[in-house]
Amino acid sequence: MSTLIKNGRIITAEQDYTGDLYIEGDTITTIGSSLSMQVNTLIDARGKYVIPGGIDVHTHLDMPFGGTVSSDDFETGTRAAAFGGTTTLIDFAIQSKGTRMRNALDLWWKKAEGKACTDYGLHMIITDLPDAQIGDMSDMVREGVSSFKLFMAYPGVLMVDDATIFKAMRKTAENGGLICMHAENGSAIDVIVKKAIADGKKAPIYHGLTRPTTAEAEAVNRAIALAEIAGVPVYIVHLSSFDALQRVSEARDKELLAYAETCPQYLFLSIEDLDRPNFEGAKFVFTPPLREKWHQDKLWEGLKTNNLQVVSTDHCPFCFKEQKEMGKDDFTKIPNGGPGVENRLQLLFEGGVNKKRISLNRWVEITSTTPAKMFGMYPRKGTIAIGSDADIVIWDPNAEYVISAKTHHMRVDYSMFEGFKVKGNAEIVLSRGEVIVEKGKWLGKAGRGQFIKREAFAGAWR
Ligand code: URP
Ligand code: ZN
Ligand code: ZN
Repeated sequence: MSTLIKNGRIITAEQDYTGDLYIEGDTITTIGSSLSMQVNTLIDARGKYVIPGGIDVHTHLDMPFGGTVSSDDFETGTRAAAFGGTTTLIDFAIQSKGTRMRNALDLWWKKAEGKACTDYGLHMIITDLPDAQIGDMSDMVREGVSSFKLFMAYPGVLMVDDATIFKAMRKTAENGGLICMHAENGSAIDVIVKKAIADGKKAPIYHGLTRPTTAEAEAVNRAIALAEIAGVPVYIVHLSSFDALQRVSEARDKELLAYAETCPQYLFLSIEDLDRPNFEGAKFVFTPPLREKWHQDKLWEGLKTNNLQVVSTDHCPFCFKEQKEMGKDDFTKIPNGGPGVENRLQLLFEGGVNKKRISLNRWVEITSTTPAKMFGMYPRKGTIAIGSDADIVIWDPNAEYVISAKTHHMRVDYSMFEGFKVKGNAEIVLSRGEVIVEKGKWLGKAGRGQFIKREAFAGAWR
């Protein structure tokens, strides 16, 4: 199978030029101008941007959580991602307490088998690390699961103590794994939450009011300090507040290997959304919670200055009906998570590029290139270069689109960004050389997506 993409404006993290791409099978094999090979598929990209497929390093598909299971599985989730121009996800396998990481890896491979429509990788969530099993982390790195998520929140469910965090970090110093940290002080938050419930404060807004930004900043600080002692990098996931960002910025000023991602919800939504009437605030219950609006500008600034390096989605969808409704009388019973895997590129293009907060190159960098570098997939993915996988998006910068649950492809009955108007959308999406989305039509197949065996963290860049 061969494809020629002609006359597109090719944009990578570093470059911006007009040219042609020739793809043989899965791979980009020639980049030039006026290419004229005989091909199976010819795409005229005149007037369009040609970008590397988006990489979302934080999704939760088919995830048991909060007494239910996230509503997108590997088929619906990866397909929705592709419609939005994201061609690789890294999802989270969860080690259940008392079991081995290997069990979780096998289970998550099964969840993806026959379903994944795009390539995907896996992180491992560690919930339990007996000394005799610390070596399992190195087995995971050898299997291409080269990053681990640890939770400083959700006591009794996913939270681990500082000793476990520190032991896991020390191990990554040996095996090159990267620790991804959910940084919130879960113990303090638990006390605040219990008091709120005792006082009858049970509406969704209290999810936000019981999780102060200081609890996030404290945990970020602790995570960075533990990583410094262990001599390893640390990556803070779903960073939501200025206080937390300041801790990362200070660490980076000291040349520490501290990295962080934020998510579109923290850039576009605020704690006011948690206070929507008729229990609609439940649609915005995820952790860390939405913050006061002024934090948004600080996060955009962080993306500009590279104190935030990545935007992921933390896609963890639960339907409003029946799932979010589980917490109708008590916000602590609302499953935590929100949908967004389909809208990341559109939102970042609209709020970032169109609003002139970030350049086109930076848009590609934070949504594709840095995720690939940080998580051991570069240059196979995350760029347009000879030898790279032909994961490519033909992006129409003038396409006008209104985000809505009525038209989105995620298997969830609401959109966090309902009614948002964006200009710029994916028109054609290729995954390893195969056109899987064309002008709103699905052409891919469930099960075609491959597991990506990721390299260990390269570490030599900031
Ligand atoms: O509320 C969220 N973020 N749900 C998914 C689990 C996590 O903490 O990332
Ligand atoms: Zn988390
Ligand atoms: Zn998450």
